Amino acid sequence: MQKHFKYFLLAVIAILFTITVVSGRRECIVRKVPNADTMCVCNATYCDDFPPLRPAKQGFATVYESNKVGDRFKETELKFGSTTSSAVSDGQRVTVTIDATKKYQSIYGFGAAFTDSTGQMLASVDESLANQLIDSYFSENGIEYSVARVPMAGTDFSDRPYSYDDFDEDLELKHFALQREDTDWKIPYIKRALKVSPHKVKLFGSPWSPPAWMKTNHKFEGNGYLRGDVGGPYYQSFANYFVKFLEAYKSHGIEFWGLTVENEPNEGQNNKNYNCLNLTGPTERDFVKLNLGPTLAKAGYGTDKVALMVYDDNLGELKHFVTPILEDREAMKYVSGIAFHWYGNGLMDVWPDSLLDEFHEKYPDTFILNTEACHLSDSEPSGVRLGNWEYAEHYAYDIIRDLNKHMRGWVEWNMALDMKAGPRWNEKQGYGGCVNIDPAVGEAYKQPSFYAIGHFSKFIAPDSVRVHNTADQTFKNFSVLTVQRPDNRLVLVALNARSGDIELNIVDSTRSLSHKIPAHSVQSYIW
Ligand SMILES: *[C@@H]1O[C@H](CO)[C@@H](O)[C@H](O)[C@H]1NC(C)=O
Ligand SMILES: *[C@@H]1O[C@H](CO)[C@@H](O)[C@H](O)[C@H]1NC(C)=O
Ligand SMILES: *[C@@H]1O[C@H](CO)[C@@H](O)[C@H](O)[C@H]1NC(C)=O
Repeated sequence: MQKHFKYFLLAVIAILFTITVVSGRRECIVRKVPNADTMCVCNATYCDDFPPLRPAKQGFATVYESNKVGDRFKETELKFGSTTSSAVSDGQRVTVTIDATKKYQSIYGFGAAFTDSTGQMLASVDESLANQLIDSYFSENGIEYSVARVPMAGTDFSDRPYSYDDFDEDLELKHFALQREDTDWKIPYIKRALKVSPHKVKLFGSPWSPPAWMKTNHKFEGNGYLRGDVGGPYYQSFANYFVKFLEAYKSHGIEFWGLTVENEPNEGQNNKNYNCLNLTGPTERDFVKLNLGPTLAKAGYGTDKVALMVYDDNLGELKHFVTPILEDREAMKYVSGIAFHWYGNGLMDVWPDSLLDEFHEKYPDTFILNTEACHLSDSEPSGVRLGNWEYAEHYAYDIIRDLNKHMRGWVEWNMALDMKAGPRWNEKQGYGGCVNIDPAVGEAYKQPSFYAIGHFSKFIAPDSVRVHNTADQTFKNFSVLTVQRPDNRLVLVALNARSGDIELNIVDSTRSLSHKIPAHSVQSYIW
């Protein structure tokens, strides 16, 4: 009897313990950065998390807030019908009215890239820290990334330049082989991401430089284009290289949702510093039409299986580059989407808002996806600005603006970098990212921008649909996005990048609530 009682007691304790652990959230361990804002510290035994969103109580919404003063996904319950009407410092008020019957594009998701630098940094720390970081990005206890880019061989974020076939004139690709970067630094982490994700993660591949021997300059970097004529043996060999890549990853159990034709083909015309390929719009069109499209289709990777995206470069040159492709019916048989990068556009109010609208109207069947973004903090001595809240605001601003212009998703760049935002083979330092790792102390630092993306990726599940809203007034540096999730719940994400608070009044079809959005904060409402 006594023995049974002891077991009973143990069972009760175990259940209670499980409940507290399950409902408890691991909060951010805040570290203030001198002359900046804050970052969150993770180590081998601790990393902040974000458990699955609980359904809100009937008549309530939940709001999560991250801000410049250091709160991360701070949770507050709000009752519909209540007007808190708290005094706001500069007296700004805005009413956002949602019309969920008016629907726009569906969302693929949010994510970042499995670069070599990312994998190298993850491999440089305790496995349990690396796993916690992958889980932070992909799992239901993290921010639930559902799209990821996989570079095909080396990029400027690799510690050496290479391709999958560096054997001169091997046009038949007899020596094609994945490298240790794939087997040690990419595949294990991709597999973990696929395993822990509650979603079907959409992976897409992108080549930087083809094998140097395929190029006119015989180098990975600098001004080179593919040798010979479009349709000829070098172009065809490069097309076959894509199929070899897909099959090599498939042999490791990894299948791709998409491909881009070439990373930053425009930049390839003038970049001496990194792995690139110069392709003009008409050349990319003919490569797709004569080589890549038919080759992928023949190998079983046609548009029904793998989404081929053109361009994959900065918005500034988009129209000039893609118009010859989009106007060509033969080429468009093989094309599903347009990929673009935020550079030059990411900072607030740089490019005309109308460009993506214009494309969507003219080519409604061709999707638009942001496939790369990071802060080019060249002016910073270390190439990285740790704990910088402003970067979070730039990301949130760009995501809201682009999604309001029919974009289907938003993909950042390196998932993890060192303390100088590297390693890189051709530069001593790199560009800002969401997580920096210091192997010397066994810690990783989640930057404010990690949480900025999380305000979208955690809430806007894949296949959510953007819904209409109208605001009774607009302010500079204040923006709002509204979507409906596949489970029918509504989500509103708001950014206040101003120096004053705003009273936000949200009106749904039948009810309303109001809440303050403080200066320099991002909020996600869900109900
Ligand atoms: C890891 O972080 C946790 C939480 O801050 C801390 O309690 C623990 O001591 C740290 N471990 C090491 C080895 O630094
Ligand atoms: C880029 O490649 C095209 C041929 O595809 C060539 O005409 C052009 O001169 C190249 N640009 C540069 C800067 O080399
Ligand atoms: C808007 O944000 C930009 C960039 O952070 C800043 O320079 C500007 O002062 C802000 N304007 C207002 C009205 O808040």
